[in-house]
Amino acid sequence: MENKNVLAVSNLSVSYKKKVHVLNNISFEIERGEILGLVGESGCGKSTLAKAILGMIKHESGEIRYNALSQGKGICPQMVFQDPYGSLNPVKKVGWILEEPLKLKGGFTKTQRRGRVSRMLDKVGLDSVFADRYPSQLSGGQRQRVALAGALMLEPELLIADEPVSALDVTIQAQIIELLLKLHKDMNLSVLFISHDLRVVYQICDRVMIMRKGEIVETGNVQDIYFTPKHEYTRTLLDAAGIERTIEACQEKAPLLRLE
Ligand SMILES: Nc1ncnc2c1ncn2[C@@H]1O[C@H](COP(=O)(O)OP(=O)(O)OP(=O)(O)O)[C@@H](O)[C@H]1O
Ligand SMILES: [Mg+2]
Repeated sequence: MENKNVLAVSNLSVSYKKKVHVLNNISFEIERGEILGLVGESGCGKSTLAKAILGMIKHESGEIRYNALSQGKGICPQMVFQDPYGSLNPVKKVGWILEEPLKLKGGFTKTQRRGRVSRMLDKVGLDSVFADRYPSQLSGGQRQRVALAGALMLEPELLIADEPVSALDVTIQAQIIELLLKLHKDMNLSVLFISHDLRVVYQICDRVMIMRKGEIVETGNVQDIYFTPKHEYTRTLLDAAGIERTIEACQEKAPLLRLE
């Protein structure tokens, strides 16, 4: 059982400034290799959960266990943020930004680092000339490719993507989602995919968690949750997104993405 899950969270509670719980007694697992969706209205605690998993904020109680298979590889899960403008250092070139995690980890020669950077740029669909550019010289989509590359430099086994496409145009969104799916496959990644877009979640996630006010109200296979939601709140969320709860409607792929 240990090995099946890349992450196990149990009874996690988080508060800001010791006030009311932002996350209240949350438990769930991320299975190795799956894409797990996390949805819920704004302010319900999704980013807080992501940050707690990454150790960026402290949790009051509960346990977070990251079960990496290969100890030497990406030790920590990595995150891609919604805003690629804020998450890339504006005064450093892309090559520098991507080399940084390798430098911090140590054990690579300069040639090895450069080699890895150019291979990673290729993996995310960017020419190696981008290594010499500053983030301000990139489009939003290119920036998000760089952010993905940066998160994956140390080959983590878990990627947390916190609304990675919501700041992008629809066509660019589809490209980045396709890239994420390609990387998920090529690099054996498990993904926690946080999104407001219930259609994209349906298309790319294996399972989905519905969060409300710091609690998980239900979790299950995407189809089970979308066709037969058990919780009233889930129904409200699906209705608000205009998603018809019929098999036909769900099976028909939304026009946003054309996935093979
Ligand atoms: N640094 C902070 N200090 C105090 N309260 C915070 C802090 N960060 C977030 N909060 C509060 O915690 C709650 C959860 O915020 P969080 O950012 O996790 O929500 P979210 O689900 O990611 O929302 P969104 O969909 O808008 O990104 C909100 O009520 C928010 O105001
Ligand atoms: Mg958020």
